[in-house]
Amino acid sequence: NYIGIDLGTSAVKLLLMDGTGKILKIVSREYPLSFPKPGWSEQNPYDWFTQSMDGMKELLDGSDKQALAGISFGGQMHGLVALDSANEVIRPAILWNDGRTTKETDYLNEQIGKAKLSEYTANIAFAGFTAPKVLWMKANEPENFAKIAKIMLPKDYLAFRLSGEYSTDVSDASGTLYFDVKNRCWSKEMCEICGIQESWLPKIYESYETVGTILPEIADELGVSHDVKIVAGAGDNAAAAVGTGTVGAGACNVSLGTSGTVFISSDTFGVDAHNALHSFDHANGKYHLMGCMLSAASCNKWWMDEIIRTKEYAAEQVGITEDKLGENHVYFLPYLMGERSPHNDPMARGCFLGMSMDTSREDMTQAVLEGVAFALRDSFEVARSLGVKIERTKICGGGAKSPLWKRIIANVLNIKVDVLENEEGPSMGGAMLAAVACGEYATVEDAANAIVKVVDTVEPEPELVAKYETRYQSFKQIYPALKGLFP
Ligand code: XUL
Repeated sequence: NYIGIDLGTSAVKLLLMDGTGKILKIVSREYPLSFPKPGWSEQNPYDWFTQSMDGMKELLDGSDKQALAGISFGGQMHGLVALDSANEVIRPAILWNDGRTTKETDYLNEQIGKAKLSEYTANIAFAGFTAPKVLWMKANEPENFAKIAKIMLPKDYLAFRLSGEYSTDVSDASGTLYFDVKNRCWSKEMCEICGIQESWLPKIYESYETVGTILPEIADELGVSHDVKIVAGAGDNAAAAVGTGTVGAGACNVSLGTSGTVFISSDTFGVDAHNALHSFDHANGKYHLMGCMLSAASCNKWWMDEIIRTKEYAAEQVGITEDKLGENHVYFLPYLMGERSPHNDPMARGCFLGMSMDTSREDMTQAVLEGVAFALRDSFEVARSLGVKIERTKICGGGAKSPLWKRIIANVLNIKVDVLENEEGPSMGGAMLAAVACGEYATVEDAANAIVKVVDTVEPEPELVAKYETRYQSFKQIYPALKGLFP
């Protein structure tokens, strides 16, 4: 059996899979996310570890523990975890959706220059990437910076605690901006620019490679064999792509989690000349392009939890009846944490627009779902402008549980949305990568072909596509018009 650990932003989701790809059990554990200042976002790596350990105990309870052969990961990307020489965490991890690094991001893009960054790494700087966080720490917390002995990404901290090895994988390393995506190695130039010493960096693996064996004391605590392999795993988007079978040229996956991503698999290396889409390594040994919005399902979660104050998300969507689709007069900008793709603007903010006296709560809920779909379309448009033809997509993440949201996405993007037997995404992908590393499947593609099953397809409806096209053309004008008004 194999465990896939999806180290998310709101929770860790753990999945136990057998060698045939059958899901045996899924558990999830939440941990706090703190916003110490507006636009900042931090988490405690110790929480990730303790919740993952507790989660694994619950996950394995009742199964044949000796049958566990491998553990792997899909992890929230870009977060900076810094350890001192005693392997203690120096400060809370600064996460992918943290916007504090405007100054550092501008320095990289303007002083070092986008052309150089792109040459060294295949990407430009975005506030969420790891390199600007390293520069921020250097400038703002010199006493912490002086203590650094290792830096790593969130899931790599888990791999370290489980195996004692300092490792990372190519897909996750791609999001650091001190990694050379084309050549799958650390970028000497970027390390120099950021003041990163070579000894701080973990060893690089392909996502389906084994980094070590489980530490004996961890194996004993979990009651599993001492031979369990710890497998590198992938950034959560690449892991989700594996879990949804998004491998091969032109295959697409949309993830509706805390973030919203459009992931386009590619067999060859390529850079978006506009630098709006990220050019990263894929977990199958190849490459991908990706657009990432910082708040996707989290917009609906915020709207439901904080404003409407309900946990009955599905019930809130019942009132969004057939006749309302494509007719909504309310727009929502989903930039609650600023925005990455395509605007690259940490200061962007959310907004409702167009309400009148007859606007209902349902209209506003609908606007939230549609606003996220329109913002995803922005990334799609960039991909289309690069000549990438996307006719269908897979979908995963918490938001994908809503049939209505899937329908809106199919019509706003005008593509077919394939519904999978399971839409677990990163945790499934993590388990599949572990299975490949343990020899259960020869390649990631083989695992995907054997395991992932499409059970239904949501087709775009021409009339609705036309209505949403008109709405999208208006949506597109809102951000540029408001840009100057955000703080
Ligand atoms: C991708 C990104 C997010 C996080 C979410 O670039 O920042 O999708 O990986 O966990």
